[in-house]
Formats: sequence, C-alpha cells, structure tokens
Amino acid sequence: MRRSSLRTWLLLVAVLFASLVVGGVALTTYVVVSDGMDVVAHDSTVRIAQGASDIVKVTATDAQLAAAEEGIDDPVERDEEARRIFMREIPEMFRASGLSEGEFAFYDADLQPIWYTDETALFTGAHEDRARALAQHQTVESTLSRSGSLSGLVRSARLDVYVVHVPVDIPGGGQGVLDVTYYPSREETVIDNIRMPMFTLAMSALFIMVVMMQTSMNWVLKLVDDLRQAADSIDTGNLSVHLPEEGEHEIGDLARSLNALIDRLRRRSEAQTRFVADASHELATPVAGIRGYTNILRAWGGDDPEVREEAISAIDRESRRMARLCSDLLALVRDERGLEFRNVRFDLNVRCREVLAGAATRYIEKGLEFIGPGEGQLIMVGDPDRIEDAISILVDNAAKYTNEGTVRLSTRRRRESVVIEVVDTGVGIPAQDLPNIFDRFYRSDASRSKQTGGFGLGLPIAKSIIDGAGGTLEVASGLGTGSTFTIRLPRGRI
Ligand SMILES: Nc1ncnc2c1ncn2[C@@H]1O[C@H](COP(=O)(O)OP(=O)(O)OP(=O)(O)O)[C@@H](O)[C@H]1O
Ligand SMILES: [Mg+2]
Repeated sequence: MRRSSLRTWLLLVAVLFASLVVGGVALTTYVVVSDGMDVVAHDSTVRIAQGASDIVKVTATDAQLAAAEEGIDDPVERDEEARRIFMREIPEMFRASGLSEGEFAFYDADLQPIWYTDETALFTGAHEDRARALAQHQTVESTLSRSGSLSGLVRSARLDVYVVHVPVDIPGGGQGVLDVTYYPSREETVIDNIRMPMFTLAMSALFIMVVMMQTSMNWVLKLVDDLRQAADSIDTGNLSVHLPEEGEHEIGDLARSLNALIDRLRRRSEAQTRFVADASHELATPVAGIRGYTNILRAWGGDDPEVREEAISAIDRESRRMARLCSDLLALVRDERGLEFRNVRFDLNVRCREVLAGAATRYIEKGLEFIGPGEGQLIMVGDPDRIEDAISILVDNAAKYTNEGTVRLSTRRRRESVVIEVVDTGVGIPAQDLPNIFDRFYRSDASRSKQTGGFGLGLPIAKSIIDGAGGTLEVASGLGTGSTFTIRLPRGRI
C-alpha cells in the first residue's frame, strides 16, 4: 500500500471512530435528557389532574350548598338545581383557578363533551380509557405518542402527551369524566435549547479528536518514514546510519532493534573485509616465497645441486603452507555456510584416541606425554568427522603451545550432554588475549606465532563447528599456567 493511501485510510478510520464515539455520547445525552423531561411532563400532568379533581369536588359541594340555601323542598328539584349550578359554575371555577397549564374537557355519562377549554382538550382516541374511568370509577391515564423518541435531534422536540381521565360525581346524581391534558411545551423547550450547544460541542469534540488522531498518526508515519530512509541508505551500502531511539514505546523499540541489527551488519561487514585482507596477506607470503625460490632456481639451480635442493624443499614447504591455508579457509567457509550436520551414532572415545595418536606422532620429537580418554565407550549422536576436526584443532594447539609436560584429553558423560576437555601444561594465554583468540587470524604472541607457524584459523574453525553442533566452547588459561579448553555438546537421541 502506498504511503499516501495509508494516510487516507487512517484518516477515514479516525473520522469514523470519532463520529461513533461523539455520536454515541451525544445520543446518550439526548436520550437521558428527553427521558428526564418525559418524566417531568408526566409528573406535571398528575399534579394538574390532582388540582382539577379538587376543584371539581369543591364546585360540587358548593353547588349542593347553594341549592339547599334556595329552600327548594322537593328533593328531586333540589338535585336538579344543584346539578344546574354545578354545570354553570364549573367552567367559571376552572378559569378562576389559575390552572392555566392544562387543558380540560368535561364529558357526561354518555361520554359526550359538555364543556371544554380548548379544541386541543378533545381526544377521540382516548374513548375506551375514558369509558373505563367511568365504569370502574377510578382515574385512568392515556398517552398520546406524537413522534419517535429521537425526533428532537433534527427538528423541534415533541414529547408524548399525557391525558388523565378523572371520574366525577355530579351533584344530584349521575356521573361524568373530566379529561386533564398537559402539553409539555415547556419541557420540549428545554430539549430544544440544549440541541444547539450539544451539536456545537459534539462537532468540536469530533474535530479535536480527528486532529489529535491525525497528529499522532503523522508522528508515527514520520517515524516509519525515518526507518524507511534508514533502510534505503543501508540498501545503498551505508552502514553508518543510526536511527533515533527516542521514547519507551514500540517505535523506539523497533529503532533500537534496527540499530542493533545495523551494528551487527556493520561488524560483520568489517570482519569480512578484514578477513579478505588477512587471507590475501597470508596467501601473499608463501606466493612471494615460491616466486623468490623459482627465480633462484632459474638463475643458479642448474649449476649448484645444493641450491637446487634447498630451493625445491623451500618451494615444497611454502606450497604446503599455502595448501593448508586454502584448506583452512575452505573449512571456515563450509562451516559458515551452515552445512547440515550428520546425525549418526558413534563412540566419541574411539575418535578421541585417534586424534591423540595422530598428535603424538606429529609432535613425537617434543617428548610430551599424551594422556587419552579412559577405557570404555562414550556413545553419542552427531557428526563424528566434524567433531573430530574440532577436537583435533584443540589437541594440536595444546601440543603446539606446550614445550614440556602433558596434554590430557578427557571425556565425560552427562545426562543430556557430553563434556570434552583438552588440558595442557603449556605457555598459556595472557588474560588480555582470551577474548580474541576465537577471532580469525588472531595469534596471541607474535614471536611465538612466527615460530609455530600457524594462521590463527584453528580456533575459529573449531568454534564454528561446535556452535553449529549446538554446543559451547570455553577456555580457561593464564600466562605460564597452561590452558583448558572445554567443549560441551548435546548427546543427541541415542
Ligand atoms: N593451548 C594453547 N595454549 C596456548 N595458547 C594457545 C592455545 N591454543 C590457542 N592458543 C593461542 O591462540 C591463538 C589462536 O589459535 P588458533 O588455533 O586459532 O591459531 P594458530 O594455532 O595460531 O594457527 P592455526 O591453528 O591456524 O595453525 C594461537 O596463536 C595461540 O596464541
Ligand atoms: Mg591452532
């Protein structure tokens, strides 16, 4: 994916996410407020209905008293009078009561409207509830749903209208129903009033969230871009780049890992360059020797058999040295390529005895004592030839760098591993050289090195063999105290 399109995608995701969050919060706020206002409207309706019911009761009592005062003897006529007074007084009483918030309608026993404050007080849909209030002689409520609960979000809010049907005992007999209706315009205004600030607030929150997300994304993308540029410059061979490792976060961790990787690459590349230079240098010496002696042969070899003999043996010596260097280099390259190790069952002690016998023959004139692994077998699984090579390098060094005393090669079996130890009583290695002896072409002491004539490739070869076999190679030594090289190898599944 191209970087610009990643940016677009991230922006889209940010907008979507912020809209969802802000929209959700705004919606919840709206629902809570409108539910609250709905409850307030209902409470107002009940309160007004209570007041209205009290007015009706007072009017009825007053009407009865007034009829009684008129001194009518016939009870039927008196009732008739009370009823007349009640019907006349009731609109007047409502007007005077100050219950201006509600709308009222009065229905007779046949549920026909006799009187009402306004057209809006008449509800045809509530006929059944009204009949029930009359029949059961108890207050019944009905609700008029006017719109969906979220309608107030886009236009003026419209809350439900509550109607309370109050049964009324008409003085002088008979019953009626008083409808008390409350239009919650005040509560709707409250909702309408918060809509604009809520919208402004939501838009600001949305904007701020998107800007914040964009800023942090830009920051991340910039870091990614830095990493890309670093990768590009590594690609062109520049290994001196160093990425900024700011912050204890994932990007900082990535930069640290990459810096470590670049460091490793640089060290490897430097080591490679040094290796090629050292190898060429080591090869140049025998080649120069061979050429020198060839010239001598050409000039004087024909006449002087002594010169001829000396030149031929020198050429032989130098070419052998070159052949050995080539084979060491090949061994190193082979081990570095990580060729497959064989996995065969073999007796380690047999191989150790062979190594020791070979060294004893090669260094016979030094008169050293070679002490081999004890009697018996030590069966393990691995690559016998490569392991023998590694042991042979260590035994060869031990013999080479020991002038008198012993070279001891011992093997031990552990539960999961085998331990091979090569101990000598030789010149030892100075402490400051210990960290370097596994580097290619490193030789501890120049004068001694020249005398013993190695290349400094033995230990690196041994180490890469042991590493490849999943083992470890350690050394303990001090100048003049002899050296101990310890190989630990997994025993393998036997
Ligand atoms: N057993 C030992 N006692 C003392 N010094 C040792 C011993 N083994 C290794 N060293 C030191 O470590 C250096 C590196 O050893 P390494 O086997 O790699 O090279 P080398 O023996 O000098 O040459 P090569 O093995 O290539 O013929 C040696 O030059 C020597 O100074
Ligand atoms: Mg060596």
